[in-house]
Amino acid sequence: MKNSGKSRGKKGQASENVWENGNGSQPLPSWLPVKSGSAPYQMPDNRPSKHCMLHLNENHFADNDHLLGALDTLDGQDLSKYPVLGNSELCDCLCDLYGARPEEVLIQLGCSALLGAMVEAFVEPGARVLLHRPAWSYYDYLVQNRGGEAVDCPLELTESGYQYCPDRMDAALAKYQPRLTIIGSPNNPTGNSLDPEVLSTLAQKHPETIFLVDETYLGFSGRQRPAVGETLSCTPNVVLLRSLSKFHALAGIRIGFAFAHEQVMKSLQAAQPTFGISVIDQRIAVARLRNRRYADKIAAQCLSSQRSFARLIQPCPELHLCASDANFVLLRTPAGKATAIRDRLQADGCLVAVKDFDGLDQHLRITLAPEVVIEQVAWSILRFMSEQSERKPLEFRFGPDSGERQNAQPRTAFAQ
Ligand SMILES: Cc1ncc(COP(=O)(O)O)c(C=O)c1O
Repeated sequence: MKNSGKSRGKKGQASENVWENGNGSQPLPSWLPVKSGSAPYQMPDNRPSKHCMLHLNENHFADNDHLLGALDTLDGQDLSKYPVLGNSELCDCLCDLYGARPEEVLIQLGCSALLGAMVEAFVEPGARVLLHRPAWSYYDYLVQNRGGEAVDCPLELTESGYQYCPDRMDAALAKYQPRLTIIGSPNNPTGNSLDPEVLSTLAQKHPETIFLVDETYLGFSGRQRPAVGETLSCTPNVVLLRSLSKFHALAGIRIGFAFAHEQVMKSLQAAQPTFGISVIDQRIAVARLRNRRYADKIAAQCLSSQRSFARLIQPCPELHLCASDANFVLLRTPAGKATAIRDRLQADGCLVAVKDFDGLDQHLRITLAPEVVIEQVAWSILRFMSEQSERKPLEFRFGPDSGERQNAQPRTAFAQ
């Protein structure tokens, strides 16, 4: 929408179509696009809190202090110079580890920035984008902001949780012929992944669609993925988006990278950071990626946290845990109870997220954390559930050390 030069708002507040210059209040230039109703995406409140913060999907398993040692290899000169050949330090490392070529790599400020760049490059106003809901709300925001049309292929609810349904996806791709489809794998908030063979079959069958696979939560399940080079050569319409924020526990340095076919990358030139990303960030990223032992350790810890939580929750028939490949779990509670359980957890010292995508207030997303913490989350939920029912708390089978744990103060444990 072009601006039409409305009058000023209250003193001191910028009005939508007017700005101040040396001659007082003036209409904005007519060419400046003013998008009515478009607000910036609101990131969740992550200010430090006395609560244990299990609502942000950050990595609670890694120890990063030693990574700062990687900066000892920098000196003042490194800070006054541009990073050598832009991103080459990190790009070479990624190519080496994942079997890609530099022409197939794009590094940006996180996967969120890459998603924005891809939607900008591939979606013109009115173009269709196929989403698989429940999905990360940011996808909807980007499509809407770009003036695209988001169409839906819902996930299927099965015994083990929400899953991609290949037949449904195939039908939706044929019906909508979208420019782009965004697939979370593992998906936020449901934790499920798309089988690489299904991805490959669908991408080959629908070559006019770009398959944007958001793999931000990749790594926690410990499962191997097909080699990047092979994926790009068999299915050039697949773009893989990865991040150092979650599995690599580097959300603070803001690095995401995309692997895409060389021809696809040509449409993304505008998104390449001209002089590269920060040399400090590259150095830390390479130190983490080169540490082979890190991956096994974190995947094992995350898996055992998920298992502990599942074991404790399992005796309560009203609770259903969705299987997850990520560092969070989606818990289905009785309808109308998710917010109350979230509030109880908050009173006990821990923040988790309600995900009300079906309007029934029955989903909680809980970030996994070391076992001593996640067990306290389970206790807190079970206590709530037992208060709501006839069942006495001790009828839950808490395991061999239950007496000791039951006496523990949740706040103390959450604070660890
Ligand atoms: C599905 C998904 N993709 C991407 C991101 C953001 O990734 P990054 O930190 O790399 O921008 C998030 C953040 O929570 C997410 O949930």
